[in-house]
Amino acid sequence: MEIPDIIIDKLAGAESVAVLTGAGISAESGIKTFRDQDGLWAKFSPEELASMDGFLANPKRVWEWYNLRMEVVKNAEPNPGHFALAELEKMYSDFSLATQNIDRLHQRAGSKKVLELHGNLVENFCNKCHAPFHGETALPNGQVPLCPECGGNIRPAVVWFGENLPAEALLEAETIARRCDVYLTIGTSGAVYPAAGLPLIAARRKAFVVEINPKETEVTPYFSAHISGASGVVLPELVKKIKQARK
Ligand code: OAD
Repeated sequence: MEIPDIIIDKLAGAESVAVLTGAGISAESGIKTFRDQDGLWAKFSPEELASMDGFLANPKRVWEWYNLRMEVVKNAEPNPGHFALAELEKMYSDFSLATQNIDRLHQRAGSKKVLELHGNLVENFCNKCHAPFHGETALPNGQVPLCPECGGNIRPAVVWFGENLPAEALLEAETIARRCDVYLTIGTSGAVYPAAGLPLIAARRKAFVVEINPKETEVTPYFSAHISGASGVVLPELVKKIKQARK
């Protein structure tokens, strides 16, 4: 794996580093991405499974899908890409990791602070009174979880299409995009905004933006560099090289 010297130099000399991850970083943990050939959106409909209208029309179907995804995530393990980012966090006093992923694998790999832009698969809350829900969501006989407080439908704490991102996490992610020296955008197709706009904010102000992805994306032309490869291979190598360069 050949990583151009300029990328190592920029990262070794950086004071402030920001990262955005997408589904691709968890691909090597066995979790499907969305827009690849065998991705989730090739088989399932986002309108039905990841929107308020879809949920209200058929909460049972939406819960079956999320319960299945929770099972997959519970049985998955963080991969070397997640661990390398936890290591990278320790190397900079000004570091931020924003993720579009809802699988909590960054936290399980040891990342201390993660800005969850699309929520997570672990928490749930009432769609009507917004009370948090800590009970079981996978119920027998096709039952859906209901709020013990008000009887409303319980929903997963994920961001669906048409919904706002958590304001605080987004603001923090935008703020570091405006001041970082280097921005790493990893395993994301850059197709879903506002998350996809974060590396573009950094690129516009001439921060050094590196995309790590086996394929080029629609936003690749805006970035300073592209490393073609799987994040589980590229990131450990990158961390090793930065450490060597800093010695
Ligand atoms: P996508 O499925 O759109 O993109 C995944 C990207 O990961 C693609 O560009 C792949 O080339 C790349 N990839 C695949 N394997 C990889 C690997 N081993 N290492 C590095 N990269 C790899 O997923 P996201 O960009 O995360 O939102 O999608 C953004 C949002 O769209 C998701 O958060 C989700 C989805 O709809 C919601 O559900 C709200």
